[in-house]
Amino acid sequence: MKTLQIKEEIEKYILVNGGLYANLPHKEFKNCSVIIPNRSEIIIKELKRHKNIKTGIDIGSFWGSLCYDLENVGYDMLAVEHADITFSILNYLKKKTKYKFKTKKVDVLKGFKAKADMLICLNLFHHFVKKEARYNAFINFLEKAEFKIMFFQAVKEGEKQMQNAFKQFTNEDYIDLIKKHTKKKKVKLILDGDRKLYKIW
Ligand SMILES: C[S@@+](CC[C@H](N)C(=O)[O-])C[C@H]1O[C@@H](n2cnc3c(N)ncnc32)[C@H](O)[C@@H]1O
Repeated sequence: MKTLQIKEEIEKYILVNGGLYANLPHKEFKNCSVIIPNRSEIIIKELKRHKNIKTGIDIGSFWGSLCYDLENVGYDMLAVEHADITFSILNYLKKKTKYKFKTKKVDVLKGFKAKADMLICLNLFHHFVKKEARYNAFINFLEKAEFKIMFFQAVKEGEKQMQNAFKQFTNEDYIDLIKKHTKKKKVKLILDGDRKLYKIW
């Protein structure tokens, strides 16, 4: 994608949505409002309890918000994103900074093995339960994943976009599925509200 097109896509997104999806460190966004409240502080606070975490993958990273914040405190991050335009914007914005996190364009439901100390899975898994084929691939993704700790943020239960979904999942259903297919045992709610955030390890 050409730089001009990318810039136009960024402007369009901000105009249509009334701001950035999540916080970014770039000067040009300094006065831009943010749709999703910052979750990094809570995640970083939680990570202080785990001494053995060095690497992380932000799965469905969008423009990479979490990677900037986690690299700031020393984690070696990879941003994974499948959408063409989103991936171009992610790279364009990253190149304007000195951040070192890597980026990878991949559909994680097509045999991707998520292997890192931590997996960041925020506002993502609802996309994976909308259709039966995707749901089956989601199970496969979970079973292949190798990690010590996962951060999972759910969208609000009963959201309109989920009306005709293959699975009508509550947050507890997601947690049970993740635990079952990753063999993790512990769960902690670390942020309450419409979009609850959980630590699973
Ligand atoms: C609602 S956004 C959430 C962004 C980010 N995780 C956050 O909460 O700040 C979901 C993102 O996941 C990406 N995504 C959806 N399905 C994906 C897949 N199968 N593989 C990789 N990325 C995916 C979308 O393109 C989008 O950027």
